[in-house]
Amino acid sequence: MDTLAMDTIESIGYPVFFEDSLTELARFIERGKYTRFFVLTDDQTGEYCLPVLQPYLGENAQYDLIEVPSGEQNKTIDFCIGIWQMLIDFGADRNSLLINLGGGVITDMGGFAASTYKRGIDFVHVPTTLLSQVDASVGGKTGIDLSSVKNIVGTFAQPQAVFMDHRFLTSLPPRQILSGLAEMLKHGLICDAEYWNELKISDLTKPSAGLVYQSVAIKNQIVLEDPKEKGIRKALNFGHTIGHAVEAYSLEHDGAKHLTHGEAIAIGMICESWLSFKKNGLSEQELNEIVAVLTNLYPQHEIKSSCHADLLQLMQKDKKNNGTQINCTLLNKIGECSIDHICTEEELSDSLHYYASLY
Ligand SMILES: NC(=O)c1ccc[n+]([C@@H]2O[C@H](COP(=O)([O-])OP(=O)(O)OC[C@H]3O[C@@H](n4cnc5c(N)ncnc54)[C@H](O)[C@@H]3O)[C@@H](O)[C@H]2O)c1
Ligand SMILES: [Zn+2]
Repeated sequence: MDTLAMDTIESIGYPVFFEDSLTELARFIERGKYTRFFVLTDDQTGEYCLPVLQPYLGENAQYDLIEVPSGEQNKTIDFCIGIWQMLIDFGADRNSLLINLGGGVITDMGGFAASTYKRGIDFVHVPTTLLSQVDASVGGKTGIDLSSVKNIVGTFAQPQAVFMDHRFLTSLPPRQILSGLAEMLKHGLICDAEYWNELKISDLTKPSAGLVYQSVAIKNQIVLEDPKEKGIRKALNFGHTIGHAVEAYSLEHDGAKHLTHGEAIAIGMICESWLSFKKNGLSEQELNEIVAVLTNLYPQHEIKSSCHADLLQLMQKDKKNNGTQINCTLLNKIGECSIDHICTEEELSDSLHYYASLY
């Protein structure tokens, strides 16, 4: 795969550039469509990624920098107000462009801020984490968290373009690589057994640009079929019904030691694979294969039985559900899944017990 050309991927009306992508960004800026440029970073991407991006913004590029503190706990309306306020203070007009340079927190919150400022200004993403490259880069979901509920306020809004550069991953801590990897493994599990098999034999501590490309291509294919998540796009929720609840709970209770998105999704995928085995015909052999890969990569996280009630409540609040029923996407087999499986509280709780019994 690495020897193949990584052609530009066409997403919902916008390109995702891979080869020489920052040169493409420079060309995009030179076209002269915009009066003002703003770069949104967090403190980490300001330090590690802005120096990589800067040469491509043009020698005399006039841009204003908006920086927020890093971390999911800051993906809030308060920081969003801060972004809107800075856009106002800097005099951003309707012909301004917001360049979101960062991980999923920056691309989600920046996309949300841009899609609502003056009823919407243009924005582009330069995703700098593996997770934001393989997942947040396509699909047009923007948003912020509120009262521990993830992404509960947001919009569907497409960027003008996405610029993907593998160099950003070199400064990324190993835990953040693992975080993105969970989504790549998910892409294989839900719809591409061959890709799953390729991942299994790869050095997953340093996923190649080719593997990243394939993952984006898989997600993009699903998103194009169902842009507003009415049907098949729910396949991407595999691992997320339980994973999102575990993530939200950890954010609230584990302080600085909270789980990353991907770590929580890995737990969710183990639990939902077990539910797939119990309810949806996934073979025991494939369940064991999935569990072996995931437990080998991700360290154990303690989930006490006393937390189950809170986790179930978080699952119920999740916007993925209709009413109070809790829905999961389950695997039929590796590389194939089906959506909208209603799971009872008992089944969900049992799946968390299964997880706890593994390590
Ligand atoms: N819109 C979507 O479709 C979508 C999909 C998946 C996830 N998300 C969202 O993305 C968020 C998680 O994304 P994330 O894991 O990228 O989190 P993140 O943006 O918080 O980034 C993780 C950490 O890595 C740092 N970082 C980023 N790039 C770096 C680099 N190149 N070198 C060194 N450090 C770097 C960040 O400062 C941060 O501390 C969640 O809020 C999730 O809801 C959105
Ligand atoms: Zn995810």
